[in-house]
Amino acid sequence: MRLIKTIMAVCFAVGMVPAVLHASSGTPIPPAQKWSQDGIFGSLDKAAAKRGAQVAVEVCMACHSISLVKFDQLRQLGFTEAEVKSLAEVQGRTKTDRMNGALDETSAKDAFGVVPPDLSLITKARKGYEDYTYAILNGYLSDAERELVNKVMADGSVSDQEALELQSALLINTHDKDHVKATLERLIGGASFNKYFPGNFLAMPQPLNNGQVSYTDGTENSLKQLSHDVVTFLSWAAEPTVAERKSLGFWVLGYLFILTVLLYAVKRRIWAAVH
Ligand code: HEC
Repeated sequence: MRLIKTIMAVCFAVGMVPAVLHASSGTPIPPAQKWSQDGIFGSLDKAAAKRGAQVAVEVCMACHSISLVKFDQLRQLGFTEAEVKSLAEVQGRTKTDRMNGALDETSAKDAFGVVPPDLSLITKARKGYEDYTYAILNGYLSDAERELVNKVMADGSVSDQEALELQSALLINTHDKDHVKATLERLIGGASFNKYFPGNFLAMPQPLNNGQVSYTDGTENSLKQLSHDVVTFLSWAAEPTVAERKSLGFWVLGYLFILTVLLYAVKRRIWAAVH
């Protein structure tokens, strides 16, 4: 009963929020990040991809597979054979195995209700590409926002100021009372809210936090850095041969250019006598 009262109180309060904020509902576009591999002249930041591989193996692969890549291929990022071997061992695999995660489908369904998608092509498969995956990793409620939700639920009431903050944290459309109610109920039920996931609730609890992985090269291990690195790695995983493709492209274009000049010279010579 108390819960229903609280939810009604919040619904009422967010309903009072000025109309100008109504536009904030829906899933926002992932903000653009800087990726060294972007553009035709871009090239992969190998050190970042290497650090990202460590994050992927130590964190993401507890649930996800990256099955289109084999552990051995990580040597392209600068890992030694011994390092590759020990990364594979983290997942109970050998270096010639595919990068399959530890979780089998049945246990995944039991635990999350869905099977976590294979991450091999994730940076190509979602609208927003690398920016989307990065935004997902950074799109969970902040500590302050989570505290606010807990406080409102514990108090059983919500001030105007809190209503404003709730609205911007949860991207709630204040016209839609049912949506406000459903959102709060799911949050109380322990569901994970993410600003950038379509529909906002996803089965993945926040996977990365500040300081979660320790780097050996002295790079800071903030959430932003860890997620930028792991997405750089996933971008490489989606197309490990992109560097060769780009450089072959330049050779082909150069060849065609020279051929064009030669053919033009030949044409002029052949037709020179005809007037
Ligand atoms: C505790 C298990 C777990 C861990 C660890 C985990 N994930 Fe997930 N992940 C999931 C589940 C479950 C889903 C499916 C979510 C859904 O569809 O509701 C998912 C979905 C995703 C999605 C897809 C979102 C979409 O648009 O469908 C991405 C991207 C993702 N995870 C990236 C990562 C990365 C990167 C890491 C490592 C930093 C990671 N995950 C670690 C369980 C996990």
